[in-house]
Amino acid sequence: MATYEGFAELETKGWSDDTISSGYVNMFAEASDMAIPHIVSNVGGAGKVLDLCCGQGNVTEALAKAGHAVIGADFSAKMLSHARDKFPDGEFVEADAQNLPFGDAEFDAVVCSFGLMHVPDQPKALSEIRRVLKPKGQFIMTSWCGPDVSPVFQVFYSSVQEHGDPSVTMPDSPNFHQFANEEMAKSILSGAGFEVQKQEQLDCSWVLEEPEDLAEIFQNGAPRGGYLLSQQPEANNAAIKAAVAEKVRSRFSDGDKWRAPIPASLVVAQAN
Ligand SMILES: C[S@@+](CC[C@H](N)C(=O)[O-])C[C@H]1O[C@@H](n2cnc3c(N)ncnc32)[C@H](O)[C@@H]1O
Repeated sequence: MATYEGFAELETKGWSDDTISSGYVNMFAEASDMAIPHIVSNVGGAGKVLDLCCGQGNVTEALAKAGHAVIGADFSAKMLSHARDKFPDGEFVEADAQNLPFGDAEFDAVVCSFGLMHVPDQPKALSEIRRVLKPKGQFIMTSWCGPDVSPVFQVFYSSVQEHGDPSVTMPDSPNFHQFANEEMAKSILSGAGFEVQKQEQLDCSWVLEEPEDLAEIFQNGAPRGGYLLSQQPEANNAAIKAAVAEKVRSRFSDGDKWRAPIPASLVVAQAN
Protein backbone atom coordinates (compact mmCIF):
# COMPACT_ATOMS: atom_id res chain seq x y z
CA MET A 1 0.00 0.00 0.00
CA ALA A 2 1.18 3.55 -0.76
CA THR A 3 2.53 5.29 2.34
CA TYR A 4 1.87 8.83 1.06
CA GLU A 5 4.92 10.17 2.89
CA GLY A 6 4.99 13.53 1.07
CA PHE A 7 1.30 14.02 1.74
CA ALA A 8 1.73 13.09 5.41
CA GLU A 9 4.50 15.70 5.70
CA LEU A 10 2.41 18.38 3.96
CA GLU A 11 -0.54 17.76 6.31
CA THR A 12 1.59 17.65 9.46
CA LYS A 13 3.40 20.88 8.50
CA GLY A 14 0.18 22.59 7.41
CA TRP A 15 -1.78 21.95 10.58
CA SER A 16 1.13 23.07 12.76
CA ASP A 17 1.62 26.28 10.80
CA ASP A 18 0.37 29.51 12.45
CA THR A 19 -1.04 31.03 9.25
CA ILE A 20 -2.82 27.88 8.02
CA SER A 21 -4.24 26.85 11.41
CA SER A 22 -5.53 30.37 12.19
CA GLY A 23 -6.70 30.77 8.58
CA TYR A 24 -8.71 27.56 8.85
CA VAL A 25 -10.30 28.65 12.13
CA ASN A 26 -11.01 32.25 11.05
CA MET A 27 -11.91 31.76 7.38
CA PHE A 28 -12.41 28.18 6.17
CA ALA A 29 -14.47 26.99 9.15
CA GLU A 30 -17.33 29.37 8.33
CA ALA A 31 -18.37 26.72 5.76
CA SER A 32 -17.50 23.65 7.90
CA ASP A 33 -19.58 25.02 10.78
CA MET A 34 -22.73 24.78 8.65
CA ALA A 35 -22.49 20.98 8.93
CA ILE A 36 -22.50 20.98 12.74
CA PRO A 37 -26.28 20.84 13.36
CA HIS A 38 -26.55 17.91 10.90
CA ILE A 39 -23.71 16.04 12.62
CA VAL A 40 -25.15 16.59 16.09
CA SER A 41 -28.68 15.57 15.12
CA ASN A 42 -27.37 12.28 13.75
CA VAL A 43 -25.59 11.26 16.94
CA GLY A 44 -28.05 9.13 18.93
CA GLY A 45 -29.03 9.54 22.60
CA ALA A 46 -26.59 10.78 25.22
CA GLY A 47 -23.45 8.69 25.31
CA LYS A 48 -19.68 8.82 25.09
CA VAL A 49 -18.53 10.38 21.85
CA LEU A 50 -15.10 10.81 20.26
CA ASP A 51 -14.72 13.90 18.05
CA LEU A 52 -11.78 12.79 15.92
CA CYS A 53 -9.72 15.40 14.02
CA CYS A 54 -11.57 17.88 16.24
CA GLY A 55 -9.43 20.87 15.20
CA GLN A 56 -10.67 24.01 16.93
CA GLY A 57 -13.29 22.03 18.90
CA ASN A 58 -16.34 23.48 17.14
CA VAL A 59 -18.07 20.07 16.90
CA THR A 60 -16.81 18.96 20.34
CA GLU A 61 -18.48 21.96 21.92
CA ALA A 62 -21.78 21.45 20.06
CA LEU A 63 -21.86 17.76 21.07
CA ALA A 64 -21.11 18.60 24.71
CA LYS A 65 -23.90 21.20 24.71
CA ALA A 66 -26.25 18.52 23.31
CA GLY A 67 -25.56 16.42 26.42
CA HIS A 68 -22.87 13.99 25.26
CA ALA A 69 -19.70 13.14 27.15
CA VAL A 70 -17.21 14.14 24.45
CA ILE A 71 -13.46 13.85 23.97
CA GLY A 72 -11.93 15.88 21.14
CA ALA A 73 -8.76 14.38 19.61
CA ASP A 74 -6.41 15.95 17.08
CA PHE A 75 -2.73 15.49 16.16
CA SER A 76 -2.03 19.23 15.97
CA ALA A 77 -1.05 21.01 19.18
CA LYS A 78 -1.78 24.28 17.40
CA MET A 79 -5.35 23.31 16.49
CA LEU A 80 -5.88 22.00 20.03
CA SER A 81 -4.74 25.32 21.48
CA HIS A 82 -7.49 27.02 19.39
CA ALA A 83 -9.92 24.40 20.77
CA ARG A 84 -8.91 25.00 24.39
CA ASP A 85 -9.21 28.79 23.91
CA LYS A 86 -12.65 28.51 22.33
CA PHE A 87 -14.03 25.81 24.64
CA PRO A 88 -12.07 25.83 27.93
CA ASP A 89 -14.41 23.27 29.54
CA GLY A 90 -13.78 20.73 26.78
CA GLU A 91 -11.67 17.58 27.14
CA PHE A 92 -9.02 17.48 24.42
CA VAL A 93 -6.33 14.91 23.71
CA GLU A 94 -3.39 15.15 21.30
CA ALA A 95 -3.59 11.99 19.21
CA ASP A 96 -3.06 10.70 15.68
CA ALA A 97 -6.15 9.18 14.05
CA GLN A 98 -3.94 6.30 12.87
CA ASN A 99 -3.00 5.30 16.42
CA LEU A 100 -5.66 6.19 18.99
CA PRO A 101 -4.80 6.19 22.71
CA PHE A 102 -8.20 4.75 23.71
CA GLY A 103 -9.37 1.31 24.75
CA ASP A 104 -11.45 -1.07 22.67
CA ALA A 105 -15.21 -0.36 22.55
CA GLU A 106 -14.92 2.85 24.61
CA PHE A 107 -17.28 5.02 22.58
CA ASP A 108 -20.95 4.96 21.60
CA ALA A 109 -20.19 7.17 18.61
CA VAL A 110 -17.21 8.55 16.71
CA VAL A 111 -17.57 11.75 14.72
CA CYS A 112 -15.00 12.95 12.18
CA SER A 113 -15.88 16.33 10.72
CA PHE A 114 -13.81 17.16 7.61
CA GLY A 115 -10.90 15.16 9.01
CA LEU A 116 -10.48 11.74 7.42
CA MET A 117 -9.48 13.08 3.99
CA HIS A 118 -6.42 14.65 5.64
CA VAL A 119 -5.17 11.30 7.00
CA PRO A 120 -2.65 9.37 4.88
CA ASP A 121 -3.36 5.82 6.09
CA GLN A 122 -7.15 5.82 6.00
CA PRO A 123 -7.59 2.03 6.35
CA LYS A 124 -5.57 2.24 9.60
CA ALA A 125 -7.62 5.21 10.86
CA LEU A 126 -10.87 3.38 10.04
CA SER A 127 -9.67 0.27 11.83
CA GLU A 128 -8.84 2.42 14.88
CA ILE A 129 -12.28 4.05 14.74
CA ARG A 130 -13.89 0.60 14.47
CA ARG A 131 -11.79 -0.66 17.41
CA VAL A 132 -12.71 2.15 19.83
CA LEU A 133 -16.42 1.96 18.92
CA LYS A 134 -18.84 -0.32 20.72
CA PRO A 135 -20.46 -2.97 18.50
CA LYS A 136 -23.30 -1.24 16.60
CA GLY A 137 -21.74 2.09 17.56
CA GLN A 138 -22.15 4.99 15.15
CA PHE A 139 -19.57 6.59 12.91
CA ILE A 140 -20.53 9.96 11.42
CA MET A 141 -18.24 11.77 9.02
CA THR A 142 -18.31 14.73 6.66
CA SER A 143 -16.15 15.56 3.66
CA TRP A 144 -16.21 18.06 0.78
CA CYS A 145 -17.99 17.14 -2.45
CA GLY A 146 -15.74 17.05 -5.50
CA PRO A 147 -15.82 19.28 -8.61
CA ASP A 148 -18.52 17.08 -10.20
CA VAL A 149 -20.99 18.83 -7.86
CA SER A 150 -19.08 21.51 -5.95
CA PRO A 151 -19.09 25.01 -7.52
CA VAL A 152 -16.20 26.13 -5.30
CA PHE A 153 -13.97 23.19 -6.26
CA GLN A 154 -14.89 23.66 -9.96
CA VAL A 155 -13.69 27.27 -9.70
CA PHE A 156 -10.54 26.46 -7.73
CA TYR A 157 -9.34 23.38 -9.64
CA SER A 158 -10.13 24.85 -13.08
CA SER A 159 -8.20 28.04 -12.28
CA VAL A 160 -5.17 26.05 -11.10
CA GLN A 161 -5.36 23.89 -14.21
CA GLU A 162 -5.61 26.89 -16.55
CA HIS A 163 -2.94 29.09 -14.94
CA GLY A 164 -0.79 26.91 -12.68
CA ASP A 165 2.81 26.01 -13.42
CA PRO A 166 2.62 22.36 -14.59
CA SER A 167 5.77 21.54 -12.60
CA VAL A 168 3.92 22.29 -9.32
CA THR A 169 2.21 19.05 -8.36
CA MET A 170 0.63 17.73 -5.19
CA PRO A 171 2.27 14.78 -3.45
CA ASP A 172 0.47 11.51 -4.07
CA SER A 173 -2.49 11.16 -1.67
CA PRO A 174 -5.79 9.35 -1.22
CA ASN A 175 -8.58 10.88 -3.35
CA PHE A 176 -9.59 13.99 -1.36
CA HIS A 177 -13.27 13.71 -2.34
CA GLN A 178 -13.75 9.92 -2.27
CA PHE A 179 -16.01 9.81 0.79
CA ALA A 180 -18.44 12.21 -0.91
CA ASN A 181 -19.00 9.64 -3.65
CA GLU A 182 -21.70 7.20 -2.49
CA GLU A 183 -20.27 4.11 -4.17
CA MET A 184 -16.73 4.77 -2.99
CA ALA A 185 -17.82 5.61 0.55
CA LYS A 186 -19.90 2.45 0.77
CA SER A 187 -17.13 0.28 -0.60
CA ILE A 188 -14.38 1.71 1.67
CA LEU A 189 -16.54 1.72 4.79
CA SER A 190 -18.00 -1.75 4.29
CA GLY A 191 -14.45 -3.07 3.78
CA ALA A 192 -13.55 -1.47 7.14
CA GLY A 193 -16.39 -3.10 9.10
CA PHE A 194 -19.14 -0.49 8.82
CA GLU A 195 -22.58 -0.49 7.26
CA VAL A 196 -23.54 2.84 5.67
CA GLN A 197 -27.01 3.79 6.87
CA LYS A 198 -27.37 7.17 5.25
CA GLN A 199 -25.49 9.60 3.02
CA GLU A 200 -26.71 13.10 2.27
CA GLN A 201 -25.49 16.34 0.76
CA LEU A 202 -25.27 19.45 2.95
CA ASP A 203 -25.45 23.02 1.65
CA CYS A 204 -22.37 24.78 3.02
CA SER A 205 -21.03 28.06 1.66
CA TRP A 206 -18.99 31.17 2.34
CA VAL A 207 -20.33 34.68 2.15
CA LEU A 208 -17.43 36.65 0.68
CA GLU A 209 -16.96 40.39 1.14
CA GLU A 210 -14.72 40.52 -1.95
CA PRO A 211 -14.28 38.09 -4.90
CA GLU A 212 -10.56 37.90 -4.01
CA ASP A 213 -11.41 36.30 -0.65
CA LEU A 214 -11.98 32.80 -2.08
CA ALA A 215 -8.36 32.27 -3.20
CA GLU A 216 -7.24 33.74 0.14
CA ILE A 217 -9.26 31.07 2.00
CA PHE A 218 -7.52 28.33 -0.02
CA GLN A 219 -4.02 29.80 0.24
CA ASN A 220 -4.10 30.65 3.95
CA GLY A 221 -6.76 28.36 5.39
CA ALA A 222 -6.01 24.87 4.06
CA PRO A 223 -2.77 22.84 3.89
CA ARG A 224 -3.36 21.47 0.37
CA GLY A 225 -4.64 24.73 -1.09
CA GLY A 226 -1.80 26.57 0.63
CA TYR A 227 0.77 24.18 -0.83
CA LEU A 228 -0.67 24.32 -4.34
CA LEU A 229 -0.76 28.13 -4.41
CA SER A 230 2.35 29.00 -2.44
CA GLN A 231 4.58 26.70 -4.56
CA GLN A 232 3.59 28.59 -7.73
CA PRO A 233 5.92 31.15 -9.34
CA GLU A 234 4.61 34.65 -8.55
CA ALA A 235 3.09 35.23 -11.99
CA ASN A 236 1.19 31.93 -11.93
CA ASN A 237 0.00 32.56 -8.37
CA ALA A 238 -1.33 35.97 -9.42
CA ALA A 239 -2.99 34.55 -12.56
CA ILE A 240 -4.74 31.78 -10.59
CA LYS A 241 -6.01 34.28 -8.03
CA ALA A 242 -7.27 36.63 -10.75
CA ALA A 243 -9.08 33.74 -12.48
CA VAL A 244 -10.68 32.59 -9.21
CA ALA A 245 -11.86 36.16 -8.48
CA GLU A 246 -13.27 36.53 -12.01
CA LYS A 247 -15.24 33.27 -11.69
CA VAL A 248 -16.54 34.33 -8.27
CA ARG A 249 -17.76 37.60 -9.86
CA SER A 250 -19.53 35.83 -12.70
CA ARG A 251 -20.97 32.82 -10.79
CA PHE A 252 -21.49 33.68 -7.12
CA SER A 253 -22.89 37.21 -7.04
CA ASP A 254 -25.38 37.68 -4.18
CA GLY A 255 -26.53 41.28 -3.66
CA ASP A 256 -23.50 43.39 -2.77
CA LYS A 257 -21.56 40.24 -1.68
CA TRP A 258 -20.71 36.83 -3.09
CA ARG A 259 -22.00 33.46 -1.85
CA ALA A 260 -19.61 30.62 -2.73
CA PRO A 261 -21.32 27.19 -2.43
CA ILE A 262 -19.10 24.37 -1.14
CA PRO A 263 -21.46 21.39 -0.61
CA ALA A 264 -20.44 18.70 1.86
CA SER A 265 -21.36 15.06 2.18
CA LEU A 266 -22.47 13.53 5.48
CA VAL A 267 -22.15 9.78 6.00
CA VAL A 268 -23.78 7.94 8.89
CA ALA A 269 -22.50 4.39 9.36
CA GLN A 270 -22.85 1.67 11.97
CA ALA A 271 -20.05 -0.57 13.19
CA ASN A 272 -20.82 -4.21 12.37
C1 LIG B 1 -10.29 20.49 8.20
S1 LIG B 1 -9.84 20.44 9.87
C2 LIG B 1 -11.39 20.00 10.64
C3 LIG B 1 -11.54 20.60 12.00
C4 LIG B 1 -12.92 20.43 12.61
N1 LIG B 1 -13.22 19.03 12.83
C5 LIG B 1 -13.99 21.07 11.75
O1 LIG B 1 -14.96 20.39 11.41
O2 LIG B 1 -13.88 22.27 11.45
C6 LIG B 1 -8.94 18.91 9.91
C7 LIG B 1 -8.36 18.60 11.25
O3 LIG B 1 -7.82 17.27 11.17
C8 LIG B 1 -6.63 17.24 11.91
N2 LIG B 1 -5.84 16.08 11.43
C9 LIG B 1 -5.30 15.91 10.21
N3 LIG B 1 -4.65 14.72 10.15
C10 LIG B 1 -4.80 14.13 11.37
C11 LIG B 1 -4.37 12.91 11.93
N4 LIG B 1 -3.61 12.04 11.23
N5 LIG B 1 -4.72 12.61 13.20
C12 LIG B 1 -5.45 13.50 13.94
N6 LIG B 1 -5.87 14.69 13.47
C13 LIG B 1 -5.56 15.00 12.19
C14 LIG B 1 -5.98 18.58 11.65
O4 LIG B 1 -5.02 18.92 12.64
C15 LIG B 1 -7.20 19.50 11.65
O5 LIG B 1 -7.43 20.03 12.94
